[in-house]
Amino acid sequence: MGANFITGTGTDIGKTWFACALLRHWRAAGLAPAAFKPVLSGFDALRPEMSDAGALLAALGREASRAELDAIAPWRFAASLSPDMAAALEGRRIDFDELVDFSRQVIAMPGRPLLIEGVGGVMAPLDEQHTVRDWIAASGLPCVLVAGSYLGSLSHTLTALEALQRVGAGVTAIVVNETPGSAVALDATLESLSRFVAGIPLTAIARDIAPADVAGLAGLLC
Ligand SMILES: Nc1ncnc2c1ncn2[C@@H]1O[C@H](COP(=O)(O)OP(=O)(O)OP(=O)(O)O)[C@@H](O)[C@H]1O
Ligand SMILES: [Mg+2]
Repeated sequence: MGANFITGTGTDIGKTWFACALLRHWRAAGLAPAAFKPVLSGFDALRPEMSDAGALLAALGREASRAELDAIAPWRFAASLSPDMAAALEGRRIDFDELVDFSRQVIAMPGRPLLIEGVGGVMAPLDEQHTVRDWIAASGLPCVLVAGSYLGSLSHTLTALEALQRVGAGVTAIVVNETPGSAVALDATLESLSRFVAGIPLTAIARDIAPADVAGLAGLLC
């Protein structure tokens, strides 16, 4: 089983939810997955379990302790802003080379399957010059692009895909996570996207997804 970078068309699209569903599924299947959320903004040190890193650790069956947080999410910022802005508010900046080194080190570790969750969307800035896309390209991992089914998501998804392909990033799958309350049907979103993304596995997550369907999604990442 491989390693994948979980990215998305934007923030709040379901990257962590999808990653946690996979981790729980893999653990139930007797595997020992690994997951990282190296860059985390909107982190409340008083409620670490509420953060993305806390959710991933819970799905891995681990505590949201300081040591565990340092291990999977070393760049933590309080403000719910893009990472460059959140870091600047604390008089800090993300050293892109250090982030890439960290990513390569965890990729080299034995835990499999392995997931690295990005931050925000594909083109979210990390510092003055680099975006998540640069991080994906430098890490060498293929990515899963999580998208929504809201009105406008078709353009956002195809734009994100174009951006990834432009730097040669591999795309393991596009996962359309149903947007609650959207007037656009999930099936229609999938059908429309399928006409533009030939060759890339495309799948949907309904809000009421059954545990058995997570197995199918996990199969995409093998
Ligand atoms: N398929 C789903 N079923 C139920 N709840 C979901 C589903 N997908 C996402 N959610 C919920 O929607 C919210 C946003 O999802 P999530 O935190 O996974 O987004 P994200 O892309 O990881 O956001 P961020 O950019 O902050 O990392 C969360 O409260 C999550 O539990
Ligand atoms: Mg998240």
